[in-house]
Amino acid sequence: MSNYILQVKSLNKSFENVHAVKTASVDFIEGEIHSIIGENGAGKSTLMNLITGLYEPDSGKIIFKGSEIVFKSPADSLKVGIGIVHQHFMLIDEFTAVENIILGNEIKKNGFLDISTARIKISELQDKYGFNFPLNKKVGELTVGEKQQIEILKILFREANFFIFDEPTAVLTPIEVEGLYKIFRKLKENNNTIVFISHKLKEIFSISDRISVMRNGELIGTFNSDEVTKAGIAVKMVGHEIDITKIEERIPGEILFEMRDVELFLKKKKVLHNINLNIRAGEIVGIAGVEGNGQDELVSSIMSLVKINSGAIFFRDQEISSLSTEDKIKLGFSIIPSDRLKTGAVTEFTLKENVLLGLHNFPEFRRGIFINLEKRDTLIKDIIEKFNVKAESINQEFGNLSGGNQQKIVVGKSIFKNPEIFIAHHPTRGLDISATEFVHSILENLKQNDVGILLISSDLEELLRLSDRIYIMYKGELLEELQGKSVEINSICKLMAGIKD
Ligand SMILES: Nc1ncnc2c1ncn2[C@@H]1O[C@H](COP(=O)(O)OP(=O)(O)O)[C@@H](O)[C@H]1O
Ligand SMILES: [Mg+2]
Repeated sequence: MSNYILQVKSLNKSFENVHAVKTASVDFIEGEIHSIIGENGAGKSTLMNLITGLYEPDSGKIIFKGSEIVFKSPADSLKVGIGIVHQHFMLIDEFTAVENIILGNEIKKNGFLDISTARIKISELQDKYGFNFPLNKKVGELTVGEKQQIEILKILFREANFFIFDEPTAVLTPIEVEGLYKIFRKLKENNNTIVFISHKLKEIFSISDRISVMRNGELIGTFNSDEVTKAGIAVKMVGHEIDITKIEERIPGEILFEMRDVELFLKKKKVLHNINLNIRAGEIVGIAGVEGNGQDELVSSIMSLVKINSGAIFFRDQEISSLSTEDKIKLGFSIIPSDRLKTGAVTEFTLKENVLLGLHNFPEFRRGIFINLEKRDTLIKDIIEKFNVKAESINQEFGNLSGGNQQKIVVGKSIFKNPEIFIAHHPTRGLDISATEFVHSILENLKQNDVGILLISSDLEELLRLSDRIYIMYKGELLEELQGKSVEINSICKLMAGIKD
């Protein structure tokens, strides 16, 4: 009893008409890794926000180290050692890691900021817990995994010993997830308590001491992880018998796009060999490979920029091998081209002129034989506003924008017609981290909306993060199909070099 660090007793919280947390009770033992699992909307984040004091409960209480406590704000709970790492990071891109970590908790020496002492303390914590992010780079230049480490260190720096992680793995690659688990284990070794929120069964079983299940606002129960099975937890999560694979992976839908035995010759040379590939609705299919192994030709075949020599291409059940590019766009094909300055846009044109390129024949933009200029201007203004493009006016030359802002316009244009098949060819090449994350979020969003996506990239990390399945392309062939989330970088690299075990 005495080793409970924090106890939640019958907490309730409603938002207008949603009863988000229903009389939930749960205990946390000092030094344990305690997972909370539940489907989206089960109330996990709300429960955590009640614990940290971001929200005030409608009723119920929180007992901290044996006595009742009321937190008025997350700053309040952090004072007693409760820290939370949110899904979305709260860092300032222009500041270094050190500056971000000490922000709001500056060590002062004679009234002046003592950065060197802070830096020493931070490096000590880094060594102790196995963090490896660079201290002096601007945070905007760091990877998602590194930013997350900074968030963790930020609360460690404030001497937290109760850590809440709200779906921390959702944004990480498999390798980064392993890194995070190492940090969890180190934190645990040092007698910290970890609350790990996830909706993925596989994850929680590999790391937790105990598992609590939430469903529909209720805390269904807490279990020792070695006394329950995945299937047992799955039933508690959804409230009825269910095939666990259905929860573990969102099942992609029907096959939208298919290439069967496609071959292509250019200048008498065979550049695509017997390509068989399909893409389902709500699925991201990755193509990995060293550039120049047929990726450009694959995209050209799909978009009808070249005519295939044999085989067939299908959209749903319709054969579309000989349709023109424009017909394919009408069917719902869209593309982020690999070279935005060659095929995606014209540098010397203004933004409003660029947005119409390739779309000028669409009825939306026609008024008889004329172009509907108002519609065009509305579209470009919409893109600028929605995607926060840094541009002075729609009459500005495209070439004057930064690479990231140019790509936002190309991407905005590519999704405006609600595509069904989306080809992303090096969609983030040359972009900084925040523009990259923007493009990734667009791809994830299309996926959620049942678009079938082909992602061709030479960035393995990007492929691993986003793809459900990955094909390796080598010398015009699709070598092998790997299941995205379980793939090892090593085996991909070997295949990319044409080495088969
Ligand atoms: N600030 C809010 N205002 C209104 N409704 C909210 C708010 N936060 C959460 N909800 C609702 O409460 C329910 C539980 O949400 P949440 O705690 O975010 O679930 P989870 O983290 O398990 O996905 C959902 O129906 C959600 O829409
Ligand atoms: Mg949540």
